Amino acid sequence: METPAKRNIAEYYCARAHCYEDRDISMRRMDIEKLQEICRKLICGKNILEIACGTGIWTEYTANFAKSITAIDINSSMLQVASSRLAKLDNVTFSQMDAFDLSTLRNGFSAGLAGWWISHVDKARIRSFLEGFHRALVPGAVVIIMDDTQETLDDISFIDGNQNSYTIRTLKDGQRYEIIKNIFDENDIQELFSDVGCNIKVYTLKYHWLLTYQVPPQSTAQ
Ligand SMILES: C[S@@+](CC[C@H](N)C(=O)[O-])C[C@H]1O[C@@H](n2cnc3c(N)ncnc32)[C@H](O)[C@@H]1O
Repeated sequence: METPAKRNIAEYYCARAHCYEDRDISMRRMDIEKLQEICRKLICGKNILEIACGTGIWTEYTANFAKSITAIDINSSMLQVASSRLAKLDNVTFSQMDAFDLSTLRNGFSAGLAGWWISHVDKARIRSFLEGFHRALVPGAVVIIMDDTQETLDDISFIDGNQNSYTIRTLKDGQRYEIIKNIFDENDIQELFSDVGCNIKVYTLKYHWLLTYQVPPQSTAQ
């Protein structure tokens, strides 16, 4: 009999850290290059706070043009991969931290970046995540949130009372996880973020989307 799948997203990524980059993303290459170009234009020269950096794929890219990056993730297994990847760079700092509790960070980042994180956040917690995120940034800071479109959707195994979609992921060792993976279309994004920032813009590509906005003088997500 199959053992019940675990639901903890942090635990799932902890177990996946060593093989996180094994997946084939060649089909998404054009999208990724476009996202990189948009990011460069938006946050070049900024002091960036990156949420849930994982193995540091976007940390590495943004380090090329950022003044500094502080990249946080809850899993030391992810941060170990990221730190060894970026060991030579002196504008990057890694910190093991829960994205829902950023209170120990010094405030004052001029940009915030969160890639492939928001789709794993319980919809009931998105507001509180944004509140803490914005508190760590200066008014006017540029925020970039990126994630997947419907095109990448795995089978939905379950929808809970907060309208979160879950999908089953099985690791090479057979461990099964049933994790939140919410897909947002442009309407959902507008609905979720229209009152939390100024100058909102959404770029919808084939496999991925990118949302950018600026933290208002008095953040309404706070
Ligand atoms: C889909 S990965 C995204 C990694 C990276 N941003 C990227 O684009 O490759 C999600 C990441 O969220 C991290 N994570 C899960 N729960 C977290 C939490 N509560 N606080 C911070 N990071 C968390 C996982 O360790 C994992 O690295």
